[in-house]
Amino acid sequence: MATITVNGVQHKVQAPDDTPLLYVLRNDLQLRGPQFGCGLAQCGACAVLIEGKEVRSCVTPLSDVAANQEIITLEGLPARWAKQKGLSVSEAESTLHPVQQAWIEEQTPQCGFCQNGMMIKATELLESNPNPTIVQIKQAFTTSGLSPNLCRCGTYVAIIEAVQHAATIMAKGR
Ligand code: FES
Ligand code: FES
Repeated sequence: MATITVNGVQHKVQAPDDTPLLYVLRNDLQLRGPQFGCGLAQCGACAVLIEGKEVRSCVTPLSDVAANQEIITLEGLPARWAKQKGLSVSEAESTLHPVQQAWIEEQTPQCGFCQNGMMIKATELLESNPNPTIVQIKQAFTTSGLSPNLCRCGTYVAIIEAVQHAATIMAKGR
């Protein structure tokens, strides 16, 4: 039995210690943000935030995550933003994270499969650098993780634009 904290809620999970966190999130907790792409830390589709850092959940054994570490999935981004901005419960319920809002307004996804990882990476970047240059955005998506974040549909230019748009929304505090 392991205890993990996901999107602000503690869960007791019955799974072997070496079970990938991705399997626990999808199969035990029914979260559909993180995707199984490669299973080898080579694409980024499975990314989540752990203590604010992008982590590839497909290669993260359950035993590597402590009960008090904060795991945030795509589903938890709105509440994360609401907490950071001190929004009320009712405001938070109708609020998307600026990254998600920007992705919608820019119509960034094509098939959408990779976009969980892209939004998680964008959130990690913007929390540490609220106004990144194009070079910094490219670096974040190519060299800051275990591998580049891959999009088989080739939405890379749209992702750069969406990150810039998200930065604008965040600066306005909307
Ligand atoms: S599924 Fe985890 S990096 Fe590809
Ligand atoms: S939108 Fe299809 S893989 Fe990226």
